[in-house]
Amino acid sequence: MTTAYSAMMTPGMESALEPALKLLADHLIALDKRLHDARPSYVVIGAGVSATVAIQAFYYLLDLRKRCRTKGALWLFFESVKALPIVKGLIAAERGKMIAEMDADMSKKLAKEPPRLTSLPAKGMSVDAVLVEAAQRKRKDLEWTPTGSLMSGAVYMADDAHFKMLSSVYSSFAHSNPLHGDAFPAVVRMENEVVNMTATMLGCSPGGPNPNVCGLMTSGGTESILTAIRATRDYSRDVRGIKAPEMIVAISAHAAVYKAADYFGIELVRVGVDENFRMDINAVRRAVNGNTILIYASTPGYPHGAVDDIQALAAIAKRRKCCLHVDACLGGFVLPFASSIKPFDFRVDGVTSMSVDTHKYGLAQKGSSVVLYNSAALRQYQYTAVMDWSGGLYISPSQAGSRSGGLIAQTWAALMRMGREGYQRVADDVIAGANELRAGLSEIDGLKVLGEDVSMVVAWGSSDPSLNIYTVNDVMVKKGWHLSVLQAPPALHMCLTSANVASVRQLCVDLAIAVKETRALGKGKVDGGKAPIYGLAGGLPDRGTVGDILKDVQDLMLKHV
Ligand SMILES: *Cc1c(COP(=O)(O)O)cnc(C)c1O
Ligand SMILES: *[C@@H]1O[C@H](CO)[C@@H](O)[C@H](O)[C@H]1NC(C)=O
Repeated sequence: MTTAYSAMMTPGMESALEPALKLLADHLIALDKRLHDARPSYVVIGAGVSATVAIQAFYYLLDLRKRCRTKGALWLFFESVKALPIVKGLIAAERGKMIAEMDADMSKKLAKEPPRLTSLPAKGMSVDAVLVEAAQRKRKDLEWTPTGSLMSGAVYMADDAHFKMLSSVYSSFAHSNPLHGDAFPAVVRMENEVVNMTATMLGCSPGGPNPNVCGLMTSGGTESILTAIRATRDYSRDVRGIKAPEMIVAISAHAAVYKAADYFGIELVRVGVDENFRMDINAVRRAVNGNTILIYASTPGYPHGAVDDIQALAAIAKRRKCCLHVDACLGGFVLPFASSIKPFDFRVDGVTSMSVDTHKYGLAQKGSSVVLYNSAALRQYQYTAVMDWSGGLYISPSQAGSRSGGLIAQTWAALMRMGREGYQRVADDVIAGANELRAGLSEIDGLKVLGEDVSMVVAWGSSDPSLNIYTVNDVMVKKGWHLSVLQAPPALHMCLTSANVASVRQLCVDLAIAVKETRALGKGKVDGGKAPIYGLAGGLPDRGTVGDILKDVQDLMLKHV
């Protein structure tokens, strides 16, 4: 036995693995001895038990193979190595040290702040005092600027009057709740109208391939996506009998699909993108199987602004009888007004659900999105009916129970104020901005634009191996810019909005300077820059450990505020 183990080991591994392997060998030798001493009846029982164990092991390996397929062989390697106690200990120690350093660093930054409240004030304050205190606390927030913003995405509107109108409509409906439709019919009707107007904008028409679109409002893009995916899972279970659901997503799909897979027990099958960063159609064709409940496409995807080929994907979905979700969270209120974009919505036969964020280019305040389905039958799968609750018969159409009528009303107000003409104007502006930025980037030696789709997101990377794009970003941060940082491949992007589109010329000027400054640094770094962290996090092959560290960092971010 011992010889078999030594033959397996390479010299380098020996020292680290030896204690663990010795432990295992001792167990096996002891087991061997016990079997020799056992009575025949025990051996029979033992054989039964081991058969069961063998079957379990077979399923385990099958599952492992599947997970390797979705997560990669490296994942298996790291998971196996990390299972060894000694490796576990080493990683935990490193992780602990790193987090402790960050913890100390972050608490130092807050040393001058007044202490946080930890219990309710004994006596309530006056209204005026609360308002003063709230205004005080707002001082450190980034100021909302109607124009000339240096931030990618984030705040999409650029009109003070619009902003004030939303607040006013919100406050007059803030107390209402569509769960109690008999008491608050106004917001129930507004929700119906928001959904209807959005569906019509996205190609639902009586003569079209999807005349029966319906939907609901949610709290945001992620909830719309979660809701649509859960409904699709349950629909596919009932109608197609799928018990081990899989969904096919591109590596450019929004992080919300990982949440959905995790929450709802769906296997995430990731496929690559083509040279223009669109979902790889041939890879999808190969990945579809009898357990595929859903193909998930984006118009555009958040990282590169690439618009997936919905017509080609719909053809696959129809042939294989699976659903097709179009994530138009970002593009829903822009692409319908962009003449260069092929049909991507309910004009296409085979699209079964869509997510559209009213709180992005719909120009409502945060906490608002729309989820749409091609049929009422599919929408019913997002409902929850409770028949046996002592609180009474209960039906809720959404993940949330109570919802804010104020959020519905302010969304309705945004759509009413903008109208088709208003959204057309915004779309024209941001797409013109994207074209200007693409042209500007092409003039900068060392940078290259990623992909050819002209949407409102423009991504660029470095075309020169000696130019670190993350260091370019650090220089840009010093100049006041908030660009989005991408990985695999390393890149940056700017999501153009009415608030920042006037800054495109400045962006090109500053980028050209930043590239020069980065080159002048050589291998040097910007003080306090994040380039080393991005570089490290992107390069670590052990994604599980990166995830664990991210969770620790999240703890710190919730602690040091
Ligand atoms: C913003 C966005 C989402 C959802 O994000 P939320 O923060 O939950 O609103 C989903 N998909 C894409 C492409 C997005 O840009
Ligand atoms: C919009 O309202 C009309 C009129 O009530 C209705 O026929 C249609 O089905 C609705 N469409 C959606 C998408 O809700």
